[in-house]
Amino acid sequence: MNALSRNPLIRFGRWLATPAIPESYLELIDPLLGAGPRGRIEQVIRESSNAVSLVISPNDAWQGALAGQYVRLGVDIEGVRHWRCYSVSSGDARRGQRFSVTVRALDGGHVSRWINERARPGMVLMLDQAAGEFTLPQDGQSQGGLPKLLFITAGSGITPAMGMMRSLASANREADLVHLHYTPDDASNLFAEERLGLALAHGWNSQNLFTRAAAKSGAIQGHFSAKRLEALCPDWRERTAYVCGPEALMDSVSAHWQQAELGDQLRQENFRPALKRDANARGGEVRFWNSERAAEASGDKPLLEVAEQAGLLPKHGCRMGICQGCLVTLKEGQVRDLTTGEVFGETGDMVRICVCAAAGNVTLEL
Ligand code: FES
Repeated sequence: MNALSRNPLIRFGRWLATPAIPESYLELIDPLLGAGPRGRIEQVIRESSNAVSLVISPNDAWQGALAGQYVRLGVDIEGVRHWRCYSVSSGDARRGQRFSVTVRALDGGHVSRWINERARPGMVLMLDQAAGEFTLPQDGQSQGGLPKLLFITAGSGITPAMGMMRSLASANREADLVHLHYTPDDASNLFAEERLGLALAHGWNSQNLFTRAAAKSGAIQGHFSAKRLEALCPDWRERTAYVCGPEALMDSVSAHWQQAELGDQLRQENFRPALKRDANARGGEVRFWNSERAAEASGDKPLLEVAEQAGLLPKHGCRMGICQGCLVTLKEGQVRDLTTGEVFGETGDMVRICVCAAAGNVTLEL
């Protein structure tokens, strides 16, 4: 039961207003009073030419977030609600407390571009409760203080790490932190000044590594490598490491930690699903009922990709099985959940097509 539901006035109003609910009327006065978690954009901060931070005031139904978690935002664009996940870039936020997310405009990213170009203070967004385990050990979990930390980030993968650094700073938690941030060039180096200030104030070792442009003299250039890690952070084996960034970085870092048999010391924020792809899994013909199209699909290919290659534009959000933004009704056949390997399906089931593949012939209401 959320805070609004517990309110005796609302409960009385609900009885009085039946069959409508009082939240429906309140919503007309203030959209934040509607049912469920919502937030009003208080401020839009331009961080770079293609990234903005949204400072959001949530209603009391939103239960708060730990730095490093992500929040699903529901954005209404031309009458259609789109859900997307974004990392919290502010520090921890308690119930009803302001927080921020930072959104980089992606090539072809309908929602991220809209947010960058059109989001304005006063707009109301739908929210989901924060989720994710890419967080710092909380006070009660870390006897003897925090472990030594290493953040490895690239591009917009900086956002959850930025949240954690802001959280450490605002709580005045002592931390031995090394941060290696890979960025194409100066112009896209998010939060550069603030990170430098935090590093100076708290004695952190914060390094920017430029992957594309010839940066200022003295700046380090190049991509992640074992040799560079050894040079910049010789005690990396003793640190709890957090990595967030594009696939290539995640793969290199993960392989390096696995090779050193230190996989349990590495926390990863994946902006992609961990799919169990089995090239031998049986696929079949996928029929798209509403659009009267069909395509052959292997048993390890997400149905969203099959549909896109068939020329359809299904609604979707995270593409990683979290947001439910791609749910499609199954008319016939069975599908394989690529996150678990489970084969399931009865007529009428809702299927997350971004993480499910055909398991034999299948028909979708699409
Ligand atoms: S797109 Fe988010 S669950 Fe499929």
